[in-house]
Amino acid sequence: MDYKSYFDIPDDICYLNTAGNGLMPRSHFDWRRQREREFFDLHNDLRDQQPAFIATVKREFADLFGCDTQNVYAVPNFSFALHSILSGLPAGLRILLLDGDYPSLNYPVQSRGFTFSNIDMCAQVEEVIWDTIQRDKPDVLMLSLVQYISGLKIDLDFVKRLKAAFSDLLIIGDATQYLGTEAFNFSGSGFDAVGGSGYKWLMAGFGNGYLMISEQLKEVLYTKARTLDRPREAMWANKSILDTFFEPGHQDTLTHGTLLQSVHFLKNIGLQGVKDYLTQLTDYAYAIFEDRGWLLPEIKNRKVRSTLINVQVNPDLFPRLMEEGVKCFPRGAGIRIGLHIYNRKADIDRFVGIIERNTLS
Ligand SMILES: Cc1ncc(COP(=O)(O)O)c(C=O)c1O
Repeated sequence: MDYKSYFDIPDDICYLNTAGNGLMPRSHFDWRRQREREFFDLHNDLRDQQPAFIATVKREFADLFGCDTQNVYAVPNFSFALHSILSGLPAGLRILLLDGDYPSLNYPVQSRGFTFSNIDMCAQVEEVIWDTIQRDKPDVLMLSLVQYISGLKIDLDFVKRLKAAFSDLLIIGDATQYLGTEAFNFSGSGFDAVGGSGYKWLMAGFGNGYLMISEQLKEVLYTKARTLDRPREAMWANKSILDTFFEPGHQDTLTHGTLLQSVHFLKNIGLQGVKDYLTQLTDYAYAIFEDRGWLLPEIKNRKVRSTLINVQVNPDLFPRLMEEGVKCFPRGAGIRIGLHIYNRKADIDRFVGIIERNTLS
């Protein structure tokens, strides 16, 4: 499948920076242009349809990712979603984090006075998580499904087993570096919350995000507020208590509409097809990098692999790569690349060629 044809990528650009921010298909640009034109035209009532429009975005999103519509929230980004969850958790919970996870995930926990502990990131991270939970019985596990520096992807079958074994444990996941790379069904995932920003693998640009939550988590959130008086204004009459915290204000229809375009786009091309394509592409890349000793030790022997790869070459090569049109990013001890549907094997060859030309001389 030639997914690249859906995008406008000039020949001199090799876009490997989806882990920073993803590209939008050309049809998104067309939709946004048309939407803005109509929005500014006072002969129609797009402004007044804002609530219904956002409801449609959530319904379609919920349908694609297997969540009840009433348990999906439209948020501006992952960080907002997480802060809103943390504000509503009962005091005194003990939270388990991964060392080196995304700062917007770990810092709000660390800075708000929660009791927390960290697990070292390593190749056997799932085993360590399991043993720690068995031993310490934390109340909440919070982690990114794909780690933003190393690309380590948590085994999602492991999350299901974990939840089955420790049903009281609340599992909160950040899917920003994951959602959009394969089919995902929230309701059977074992997670109690999955949130993320839409601008990376969902290819939906900045300003939109999502939060899906389980009934189990819902029950423990904002319990104090439920006992207090609620605003009686008519405009809030239909808001649930969680709506008032997760969607307290009006969302922008252009950006959330772009997320809806991504949902339509992914439904059309099919997430299974996306996964198959990305598996082929990443297998190719991992084999080349492995051959050259360019994989992180904690990634090299893992069966579960992501589309985000921290290539262990000198990060000083970054300016050279950028000069040659290869968009990537220095992260940790290497250069981070992301492989998405608009990439081809030729992009990997080009990336490797530049590195070898600049290091073997
Ligand atoms: C793991 C992870 N989570 C979340 C985000 C983005 O969150 P936000 O858009 O709230 O800054 C990123 C961005 O790099 C990320 O790598």
